[in-house]
Amino acid sequence: KQTKTDVYYTITAQQGESNFNNGPATKTLGYNGSFLGPVIQISRGQTVHIKEVNDLNENTTFHWHGAIISGKADGGPHEPVKPGDTKNIKFKVQQPAATLWFHPHPNGETAKQVYEGLAGLLYVTDKQSSKLSIPKTYGVDDFPLIVQDRTFDSNNQFNYKKDYNADGTLGKNLLINGTLNPYINVSTNFVRLRLLDGSNARNYNFRLSGNRTMYKIAGDGSLLTKPVAIKKLQLSPGERAEIVVNTSDLKDGTNLKLIAGGMNVLTMKLGERTGNIKHLPKVLKKMSAVKAPTGKVNKEKLVLSGMGNMVNINGKKFDPSRIDIHTKQGEQQVWTIENKKQMMNMIHPFHLHGVQFRILTINGKKPPIAQRGYLDTITLNPGDKYQITFKFEKTGIYMYHCHNLEHEDEGMMGQVKVI
Ligand code: C2O
Ligand code: CU
Ligand code: CU
Repeated sequence: KQTKTDVYYTITAQQGESNFNNGPATKTLGYNGSFLGPVIQISRGQTVHIKEVNDLNENTTFHWHGAIISGKADGGPHEPVKPGDTKNIKFKVQQPAATLWFHPHPNGETAKQVYEGLAGLLYVTDKQSSKLSIPKTYGVDDFPLIVQDRTFDSNNQFNYKKDYNADGTLGKNLLINGTLNPYINVSTNFVRLRLLDGSNARNYNFRLSGNRTMYKIAGDGSLLTKPVAIKKLQLSPGERAEIVVNTSDLKDGTNLKLIAGGMNVLTMKLGERTGNIKHLPKVLKKMSAVKAPTGKVNKEKLVLSGMGNMVNINGKKFDPSRIDIHTKQGEQQVWTIENKKQMMNMIHPFHLHGVQFRILTINGKKPPIAQRGYLDTITLNPGDKYQITFKFEKTGIYMYHCHNLEHEDEGMMGQVKVI
């Protein structure tokens, strides 16, 4: 039965050519276009129908990263769509406003397909957030920033095989929304940037030029309770954060820059500006303080370790025919995730499908305010131990894995079956 709260989308994974620079066109992949994909906008309460079309000449899947969705619709490696095939999914949006994303997840080929261009954004809005006085006009004062690093070979192509590194494929150039050296014209005092680390493996430490303060308003899966003033923002692959920049004290003609390491991420060209908002709201979202659940709790412990092709979780590599964790829908969960300190150490961004969780503790302590919202991906530095809590609201098979995509493809991934 169709109601006015039903919305329909078709997402086609396809091949294309992109012009990133003055050289020859680069062969790329994209959704409904030649590189990256559309921003899908959905609202809490809607039923979303998506027709997923594979126009590639290889298997792919359509994974809805951060969505609270059944295992069947989630698009993990156990749900491949063959070349020329179509898969229809539907789900009811039952989560708060957030910046989610989608990307392929075929067994062993995720990193290559993402590197070649498959990724898109999924914005969730809700009643509460649409009443907030924050920048929210797409392309005017509210901008997506998909941050990726890519190398062009001598023929101006992406050469994933050649640049492949088992510990994470890094690119020499930054592409933001598929653009080299991007800038935006700023016409309002406050600007909202929705950052996604859509890179295969690069971690970023973002900051503003002049060491200017920025305000973090959201993490992966929800707004924060209040804006948090920060000077730098660390993101690892898969993670999102929304920041607001106040430019009202800066002169017209100023170039304000968002930088990461030595790299220029975005130039904000400040023109004559209007006051879109006066100041950020004191309260963004009412959320109860996170506390350890009592009563029946399913506890799990996951130890991430190794490097290169030795990466594993609890000493095991991904096996599509093995279920690592069995649990029940609605049961309270407390999972401990540890990045085991060894001779050789790496950052591992841990991601869990199908849910939004909250952090109970980081190395035994309460998380900082900026990390107290809903999340689906956390950055574990060597030696870090996180406790997270959540419930599976849907059933099916879900993946958990390192979001360094080369590690994920090397088998740093497990499966949980929810009944
Ligand atoms: Cu963003 Cu399993 O992935
Ligand atoms: Cu995911
Ligand atoms: Cu890893």
